[in-house]
Amino acid sequence: MSATLVEIVKASNLKLKPEDDKLGFGRYFTDHMLVMDYSIETGWTGPRITPYEPIALDPAAVIFHYGQTAFEGMKAYRTEDNRILLFRPEKNFSRLNASSERLSMPPINEEEVLEYVKQLISVEKDWVPTSKGTSLYIRPFIIATESFLGLAASKQYKLVVILSPVGSYYTNGIQPVNIKVEEHYTRAVRGGTGMAKTAGNYCATFNAQTKAINEGFSQVLWLDAIEKKYVEEVGTSNVFFKINGEVHTPELSGSILPGITRMSVIEMLRSWGIPVSERRISIEEIYQSYEEGLLEEVFSTGTAAVISPIGELEWQGRKIVINNKSIGAVSEKLYDTLTGIQTGKIADTFNWTTEV
Ligand code: COI
Repeated sequence: MSATLVEIVKASNLKLKPEDDKLGFGRYFTDHMLVMDYSIETGWTGPRITPYEPIALDPAAVIFHYGQTAFEGMKAYRTEDNRILLFRPEKNFSRLNASSERLSMPPINEEEVLEYVKQLISVEKDWVPTSKGTSLYIRPFIIATESFLGLAASKQYKLVVILSPVGSYYTNGIQPVNIKVEEHYTRAVRGGTGMAKTAGNYCATFNAQTKAINEGFSQVLWLDAIEKKYVEEVGTSNVFFKINGEVHTPELSGSILPGITRMSVIEMLRSWGIPVSERRISIEEIYQSYEEGLLEEVFSTGTAAVISPIGELEWQGRKIVINNKSIGAVSEKLYDTLTGIQTGKIADTFNWTTEV
């Protein structure tokens, strides 16, 4: 595929790069970004790499009023022999198009945009960190830019891709986190936008998340919106339960994000002969399996969070401790295999990685 950028405008002053151990998640941004524009008359045009800079928008732009936007999250990893790998990036761009479709936004050419993103990463290759557990987080997003207050899909959009060197999402790395089951608020509902990666799904979680954090938890576990009975996802990630040798994860019902790490975890587990079922799982059943001594491991999965073990759950004031608050054998094997493939340390037998 030869996709040609219209132009590359280099930044005149380059930023100082942070030390790898100071990275955290999503606080630092590289020197350049990728931008493209859409209008109904021309389609997507003008792909360009520009200095990282503020975006000027009309105060009446649709994004500010009706939240018409979608985003993605993916990572570039540095290998020991200094190559840069992307992990299943084509899945992110096809999910971006699925989100756009739900939000009445125009599709992008997935292959072309992936080529532009590779060019952006090549320009920023020195920003891909080298230490264990670090990567360059890639955040593509589309915003509705038409100035119009009538309630209708915008006729103009901007696609922007920014890059951020990151360490681990949770401050305590791969240590098991404690999670509160949210009983009052709802993240998303079937038929709504839960399956799309769109801003509204995430800001709808802030109040419950803040409350949980103030109570000493790391995140919340969302239940279904209608019955408040079935498990959906954890904060920023999909969730898995290992019960009596089998792994269970909520089925993609329309209100859950179809995670690319989720999909990869299911494929890895099955390839190891561990049965995985995607189905409705009630929180009652999780507590029941705990009472019976069958709940072996709980973990969440996501691009940002990777594989994050869950050591404690609290629901209706009942706290349960999982696997003695240590990472379980399957969670650890998943973490090691996934990050091993992503960083080129383990042979990529699944054919998941793409070199920049
Ligand atoms: C990701 O895992 O890439 C996400 O989008 C999570 C983000 C909301 C922090």
